[in-house]
Parts: sequence; C-alpha cells; structure tokens
Amino acid sequence: MKKDLLGFAGMTPADFQDIWRRAARLKQLLKEGRDHASLKGKTLGMIFDKSSTRTRISFEVGMYQMGGIALFLNSRDTQIGRGETLADSARMMSCYLNGIMIRTFSQESVEELARYAAIPVINGLTDLLHPCQILADLFTIQEKKGSYEGVRVAYIGDGNNVANSWIEAAAHLPFELALACPEGYDPDARILAAAGRVKLCRDPFEAARNADVLYTDVWTSMGQEAESQERMKIFRNYQINQALLGVAKKDAIVMHCLPAHRGEEITADVIDGPQSVVVEEAENRLHVQKAVLEILL
Ligand code: CP
Ligand code: NVA
Repeated sequence: MKKDLLGFAGMTPADFQDIWRRAARLKQLLKEGRDHASLKGKTLGMIFDKSSTRTRISFEVGMYQMGGIALFLNSRDTQIGRGETLADSARMMSCYLNGIMIRTFSQESVEELARYAAIPVINGLTDLLHPCQILADLFTIQEKKGSYEGVRVAYIGDGNNVANSWIEAAAHLPFELALACPEGYDPDARILAAAGRVKLCRDPFEAARNADVLYTDVWTSMGQEAESQERMKIFRNYQINQALLGVAKKDAIVMHCLPAHRGEEITADVIDGPQSVVVEEAENRLHVQKAVLEILL
C-alpha cells in the first residue's frame, strides 16, 4: 500500500529514525561526491499554491541527485487553477508520476489529493502543518546535540503551521517543547490536546529559560498578509533577541525555518550570530527530503 506524508499522525519513533538514518547516509554520499541514484527514472510532481525557495529547490535538486526528475507545477498554470477537481487531478497525475509534493492552503485539500492519488503525497506546507520542515529541524538538532532526547525546545511566536508540526512531533518523540504565543494566536487546539505533554505559555522568557533550542517563525504567514500591521503590534514582544538568548542554556542553538524578518521575530545579531544554525538547518531540508522520497517513492 502506498504511504503518504501528510503530517506525523500514525508515525512511530522507528519511522522517524529510518528517515534520519537515511538522511545522514545520503548527506555523507553527497559530500563525498558518490553516486546515489536510488530514484532513477522516477518522477515527482510539485504542486505549488504558495511561494517557496527552500522547499522547491530542495525537492527539485534532491530528485535530480537521486536520478529522477521533479516537475514544478504552479497551480495557476495547470487546470487545477481553472477548477479541475483535486480528485480528477490526483487520478490523472497518478498515471504519469511516482509521487506528488503539494504546498497549498488547506490541509483538507492535501488529504483529498492523497485519498484519490494512487501514488504517495507529501505535504510541502499547508496552513495547518509543515512536516518536512520539522523533520529537517529535528535532524539538525540530532547533529548538533547528539540526540533530541530530553532536549528542551522553546518555540517563540505564532501558533502556526510550523508550531503545529512541532507539537505533532513532540507527541511522538521524547523531547520537551514549550511554546510562547500571544493570546488569540495559539496553536491548533486539537493538535495541542492530542499531544498532551507540551507546555503553552504567554511569556517568551518562561518558555526560553534553560532551553537548548530557541526557535521562531514569521509573525505573518503566507495568506495572512492583510493582518500584517495588526500582527506587528501583537507580536512585538515575541522576538528572539540577546535578552531572550540570555536566559537559554549557554550552548543553546537558534533555529528558524526561514524566510526570516530581521528586526521582527528575530534580531539580526542573533540570526547572524554564532549560536544560529539556520543555514545548516535549511541545507538539511535537502538531505531529509531525499530520505523521505527514497522511502515513499
Ligand atoms: N522553510 C521553508 O519551507 O521555506 P520556503 O518557503 O522557502 O520553501
Ligand atoms: N509559517 C510560514 C512558514 C514558511 C516556511 C508560512 O506559512 O508562511
């Protein structure tokens, strides 16, 4: 039976480990310039309803490096943009492709696509979740800290797709997660309730105290541009800066899924400073997604 990656529901710790083991191997092979064409002749369709730099490039380059190809499908330029149903699109695409990666607004659309597709579907970000990002983030934490076990992650800012995927991951894996979000901008209530042992507070300093990882994301996500001015005021105190870094552990690392807005959710001195791992974090999107592709395709 085909497998999808729509979120982390149904995944076991062994599934996560399998992805990261392969990612480490693929990373090593690439660094050594060794052939790893495990997806020769395979094709990935990449449907985009929203902008992307990292996700698009890493999936496309990843497919190429493994001997396959990826097709960039801006939904505006396909019949999806003119109203062809997701069910019909999924059935047709299943005849041509070996897998689909989709970045869109509603999680329900991704689930619908996966329901009708005979091939694996990968969630490349929805308003609700961003699983590929958090897979790369936890892989980065393993590299930097040796393991994610017992590691204290503090997420500062909007209870958005990235925050929700962090919470889903915490429900499956033994790391500590504390989120500081302003009132009215909490993560998804159902995901939070299902996770159980995640801490949610209002004070960024409370979340960041003794943290091993300080993590943030933009105040205004794609699709929320009309709220941007209001969000600037509401999120003003939800910033990773030197003061916040000062209450985390001395060897804490700073992470951000990117793109970043310096001076908003994070200061330039912190994101460009010695504790920031954002470039390696972005690089790891490539290695981890190649592992996901190798498993699913
Ligand atoms: N972090 C991330 O998904 O980046 P892009 O929006 O550039 O793909
Ligand atoms: N929360 C952000 C993540 C971008 C990678 C957004 O959805 O725009």
